[in-house]
Amino acid sequence: MKLNKVRVLHNRCVGPSYYKIGLETGYGMDEVQPGQFVMIQIPGLADALLRRPFSIYRTFGGPSKPQAIEVLYRVVGKGTDRLSYIKEGELLSILGPLGKGFSVAPDSGLVYVIAGGIGMAPLNFLILRLLDKGFDTNKIRLFFGGRSISDAVLMEDLKPVLPNVRVATEDGTLGQKALVTDLAETEIRQTPPDMICACGPMAMLKKIGEMALQYKIPCQVSLEAIMACGLGACLGCAMKNTLAENQYVHVCKDGPVFNLKDFRF
Ligand SMILES: Cc1cc2nc3c(=O)[nH]c(=O)nc-3n(C[C@H](O)[C@H](O)[C@H](O)COP(=O)(O)OP(=O)(O)OC[C@H]3O[C@@H](n4cnc5c(N)ncnc54)[C@H](O)[C@@H]3O)c2cc1C
Ligand code: FES
Repeated sequence: MKLNKVRVLHNRCVGPSYYKIGLETGYGMDEVQPGQFVMIQIPGLADALLRRPFSIYRTFGGPSKPQAIEVLYRVVGKGTDRLSYIKEGELLSILGPLGKGFSVAPDSGLVYVIAGGIGMAPLNFLILRLLDKGFDTNKIRLFFGGRSISDAVLMEDLKPVLPNVRVATEDGTLGQKALVTDLAETEIRQTPPDMICACGPMAMLKKIGEMALQYKIPCQVSLEAIMACGLGACLGCAMKNTLAENQYVHVCKDGPVFNLKDFRF
């Protein structure tokens, strides 16, 4: 974990309410696990000391090791709105990389990656990392669920490198008009994967968790929670583990990626 002032390399609008911000960390980012996140302090807010959590979307730059990260974010409130006005060259304070990420071994077999909306951000990094490590593209199947065609930008960087992508949208303007969990369940029944990795809204993750248990498939999910410190110190992100009596986890420190073998929500 590092606290650092980072230089903004770019901050561009890539779709309706979607932005990509590139941050030069100045230190090697090759050890970062997909699913880990950074807490960004956004200047100009009344609660400027409270940082906002964002997943790492990809690493890039640097002569031998990547020395920059990119975050893909959606403007949903005052912090992300303010962030969208930050200019190239400005300095931001970030804390991270934080938390525990996905753990997928090279011999994991067929992996279904299931994303809902902005939940695509850490999964983009996961897929890029797996491909970078020589994982067979045919062993990764991406299921993406969005609201409409306006969410297409979330899959943009994977289109050229990943042949197996299934898409569902609420209004049917992109892919099938369906829930992504329904698309995934149909294929899980036909061709059960060896592992599922997922990130998205809680209702989607609950459904995926149920399917994983029903079909006995190992499953890792990345959870979202309102976070203040990002370090396990404030209890703001505490969540009950329903597998154990009276056991609470900190999503920021024990997660955000949890293995359903050890954790239920
Ligand atoms: C581990 C983690 C990784 C994340 N990664 C990304 C990412 O890669 N890209 C991205 O766009 N967003 C991501 N988020 C969500 C992001 O942190 C929130 O959208 C952001 O903090 C909202 O700040 P705001 O000031 O704009 O919104 P606020 O003005 O604080 O709130 C606006 C609305 O957003 C909701 N909101 C606020 N914080 C969260 C949150 N943590 N989770 C869900 N809803 C929230 C509020 O309930 C409210 O409805 C992540 C969250 C977590 C916990
Ligand atoms: S955000 Fe403070 S304990 Fe997790």
